[in-house]
Amino acid sequence: MATSRTAAVTAPEILGRKHGETPVVMVTAYDAPSARVVDAAGVDMILVGDSVAMVVLGYADTLQVTTEDMAHHVGAVARTKPSALVVGDLPWLSYHVSRDETVRNAATLVRAGAGAVKLEGGRKRLDAVSAILDAEIPVMGHIGLTPQSIHALGGFKVQGKQLDAARGLVEDAIALAEAGCFAIVLECVPDGVARMITDSIEVPTIGIGAGRHCDGQVLVYHDLLGFAAPGHRIPKFVRQYATQEIEASEAVSRFVDDVRGGRFPASDETYHMADQMLDALGLYGAAST
Ligand code: KIV
Repeated sequence: MATSRTAAVTAPEILGRKHGETPVVMVTAYDAPSARVVDAAGVDMILVGDSVAMVVLGYADTLQVTTEDMAHHVGAVARTKPSALVVGDLPWLSYHVSRDETVRNAATLVRAGAGAVKLEGGRKRLDAVSAILDAEIPVMGHIGLTPQSIHALGGFKVQGKQLDAARGLVEDAIALAEAGCFAIVLECVPDGVARMITDSIEVPTIGIGAGRHCDGQVLVYHDLLGFAAPGHRIPKFVRQYATQEIEASEAVSRFVDDVRGGRFPASDETYHMADQMLDALGLYGAAST
């Protein structure tokens, strides 16, 4: 288990890790138990990602969650008082309509307990980034495969494979870094592109499916612990450190068998009454063992 910290991690501290020796680690969490697990493991940042829509709420994409949904999950994570920085993911359409709405939505996540927010997109989103930064809220960028653009991208596909697209991603990253983002997620891009971006900006890059030349890595909690719906294709970049869906199912099966076999509950899992009470109720000898 990782050593515990005395103070919570801040966005400026993450920015200061750009040329550090130890890569930055971020893992998603969506509720109190998952937040406790990842914080106890010593992650630097907990991302309350809009991936909650897919891995927890059973939707086929991330477009179904609202700012209120995200605030609900940010609150659950923040109430565990983690040492890690809590990053709240701004959902689709929460930063696309106007500067006012963007700032209010970012503030909703901060009031729920986030210390920073994340949004998807490059140069197109500079206005949203500057509006949020103006309200003194740290912003994490996210480029490459941006799941909120799934319909525009035509599916969950690796991005930046062609020269123009790769150059476009480098320009997006430079623009986000210059605008003041404290870190940038690079999702599903070839490692050469991730390396070029990482070398081009003074802001840590956090990769997911972007190879090892990033300043940090992020994985989705349910992916790394092996919670996968039957038939779900596990992306190549996921390393599963456990098979918890199988283990949890086996544990619940044992409970089912114990109940059906009369082995649960046992006497020491039962509240008993004093014998006099049983007697008074006319139940003497009935059930005190
Ligand atoms: O929502 C999420 O979990 C994310 C990560 C994949 C970076 O955005």
